[in-house]
Amino acid sequence: MAKDKKNKTIFVCNECGGQAFKWLGRCPDCGAWNSMLEEKVQGSNALIYRHNKMFFPQNIDGITTDPELRIRTGINEFDRVLGGGLVSGSMILVGGDPGIGKSTLMLQIFHSLALNSIKTLYVSGEESAQQIKLRASRIDIKRGDNIYVLTATCIEEIMEHVKKISPEVIAVDSIQTMYSENAMSAPGSVSQVRESAAFFMNFAKTAGVPVFLVGHVTKDGSIAGPKVLEHLVDTVLYFEGDSGQVYRILRAVKNRFGSTNEIGVFEMKDNGLHEIGNPSRFFLEERPVGAAGSVVVPCIEGSRPVMVEVQALVGQSSFGMPRRVSVGIDPTRISLLVAVISKQLKIDLSNHDIFVKVAGGLKVDEPGTDLGTAMGILSSFFNVPVDPNLSIFGEVGLAGEIRGVNQPLVRLEESERMGFTRCLLSKKGIEFTEKKEGKIKLEGVYSLNEAVMLLFPKK
Ligand code: TYD
Ligand code: MG
Repeated sequence: MAKDKKNKTIFVCNECGGQAFKWLGRCPDCGAWNSMLEEKVQGSNALIYRHNKMFFPQNIDGITTDPELRIRTGINEFDRVLGGGLVSGSMILVGGDPGIGKSTLMLQIFHSLALNSIKTLYVSGEESAQQIKLRASRIDIKRGDNIYVLTATCIEEIMEHVKKISPEVIAVDSIQTMYSENAMSAPGSVSQVRESAAFFMNFAKTAGVPVFLVGHVTKDGSIAGPKVLEHLVDTVLYFEGDSGQVYRILRAVKNRFGSTNEIGVFEMKDNGLHEIGNPSRFFLEERPVGAAGSVVVPCIEGSRPVMVEVQALVGQSSFGMPRRVSVGIDPTRISLLVAVISKQLKIDLSNHDIFVKVAGGLKVDEPGTDLGTAMGILSSFFNVPVDPNLSIFGEVGLAGEIRGVNQPLVRLEESERMGFTRCLLSKKGIEFTEKKEGKIKLEGVYSLNEAVMLLFPKK
């Protein structure tokens, strides 16, 4: 916006933060209807680093980095997702459905930090201090002398307290409840969220204090408020899971200080979240051994392998339109696999309903699951179980060829560690790994046809 637009108004989309000079019924950026809100334009509100004195050109050789800048929270699963601990001055957005455990996670992290004598400030705009205390007693906080709780929503007011307490880590629960006296629009609106986030970002960068922002998630799964929030922060973590189930997965979708797609697995119990160090065992625990349609796939989540069970159910369709339903796997993958199966194997599934799901509620999105999923679908179709001691991975090409996927050795070793005695993979995959056959027998195939002959010889 130009500087001379001072007392003018603009219209900001409440869904995506897109701007327009006049009111529009539909946002030109995101296409949402009736989402444009009027806002007063103030000076240069886009400048986030305006107070930062360190903002001058420097030679890249002259910039020094300090290797000891990370603070370990002491919760290993969490530290791993962050890429080895909290980076000082970083801003981390934690998103997730209501009731999934975001506030619990924050409090447990703060407890763990407090045990290491790190002073923390938990700012809540949603709950009273008593509610937070109740949660704290549930998760059995042993040492609370370093955890400060502040119930406030005005960021200028919060900053006053921050100056007095000078905490080493701050959490803001949630960013949608915060407002700035200087922003003209209503609390909860996109510009307030953006303004507040920019304010905390500025603070984090100048004071070198890590700041957690807890964010709500909209119905379609993205963090409510503008996408700007995700661009602004250093790290975006999503806390996922079915609130009806006990497991919770913390996933990094953006990380300026580590790899993305790293996951941490937790279990929600009566006394808070517990780390699950061996997710493979956890996800295979309730596997129906010997059931048709069930296969085990070693997947790579971030930097580590996780064995997951893919279940398929194929049944006669009762309507003209066969149903294709998938949970935890991209439905497009299922459609492609069904197309390849019908074309290359001449197996007609056009009047069959197909349901595919990743057990335990994990979401896996990688080509390595293709071969396993295809075998699961065929296992259910033939009603012939797959050997329960067999793990399967590989990508299925449109010509029915089986292709190698990344990190085959890691997948094989995880299969071996979990006690699997056979592994079905691509021939190329075997060449890549150069793995001498140990306890696990490697069965390489070039095509889907070969895989079917191997697993379902009588069909
Ligand atoms: P909460 O952290 O309030 O979720 P969020 O901040 O994401 O909205 O967690 C709420 C749920 O977690 C609530 O349904 C109760 C459950 N819970 C437990 O099962 N055990 C516990 O020890 C705690 C503190 C919460
Ligand atoms: Mg909460």
